[in-house]
Amino acid sequence: MSDVILSTNGLTKKFGAFSANSEIDFFVREGELRAVIGPNGAGKTTFFNLLAGIMPATSGEIRFKGAEITRLPGPERVARGIAKAFQTASIYPDDTVFQNARLGALARVQGMFAPEFLKPSRRLGKVDEIANEALALVDLVSLGGERAGDLSHGDKKRLDIALALATQPTILLLDEPVAGMSIEEVHKTDRLIRLLAKRMTVLIIEHDMDLIMGISDSITVLHQGKVLAEGTPAEIRANQMVQEAYLGGHVQEALATPAPGAKP
Ligand SMILES: Nc1ncnc2c1ncn2[C@@H]1O[C@H](COP(=O)(O)OP(=O)(O)OP(=O)(O)O)[C@@H](O)[C@H]1O
Ligand SMILES: [Mg+2]
Repeated sequence: MSDVILSTNGLTKKFGAFSANSEIDFFVREGELRAVIGPNGAGKTTFFNLLAGIMPATSGEIRFKGAEITRLPGPERVARGIAKAFQTASIYPDDTVFQNARLGALARVQGMFAPEFLKPSRRLGKVDEIANEALALVDLVSLGGERAGDLSHGDKKRLDIALALATQPTILLLDEPVAGMSIEEVHKTDRLIRLLAKRMTVLIIEHDMDLIMGISDSITVLHQGKVLAEGTPAEIRANQMVQEAYLGGHVQEALATPAPGAKP
């Protein structure tokens, strides 16, 4: 079995008196594709933000590749190989697709101190190469000259993933990568995630259960900031507590929302 690459111990995040993450013990092995699911407000995005160093933990510990990184600033975690794509695509709309990818690549290359990267011309060449590789992975090379803000919703989300990939991560955190996508876009992104999972460890937050049950090696369920259950897709699907957590949130919400065209 492969080594644990990332783990947390008692990880807690408080906003005032409210605990968005409460005593989370978690580990993921190298090469695993792990889903993190749970009803709205369960604390999933907060958990990823703590892992990526986007916000500091209140207490507890995060370890990555054997080292404690709990207090390490976000950019230093990126340099160590942790990258996050955002729930709402976080791209630069007025720049081109290629310029966007270059920003991610620049962050990577600036973190390299090998002598061959110290010469500016070599460095810029490397930036372009990494940016192109990232765009190729998400199938956006042909749109490199387009204004990022003019992309379709699905392409914007994939560009956000490319920005994360351009930092050449060993672990990629994807926060709702298929939210709001058409069926075709979901299928395309499903194929992309499977491809990425062959190259790196992937943690994915998603509400699309068909996608999650199809691609995950294992699933962690968060509920009210705590780990409610963990297991294979089959184990999670059969788990009574998980079904109840979802009945308390999503499913009831969906039932309460009238179908399109339904009479008030
Ligand atoms: N910066 C913040 N300040 C105060 N409360 C916050 C902040 N960020 C999140 N919260 C609260 O923490 C809880 C967990 O939020 P979080 O965004 O992590 O949930 P989530 O599981 O990602 O939900 P969703 O599925 O809707 O994206 C929510 O009650 C939210 O309102
Ligand atoms: Mg969220």
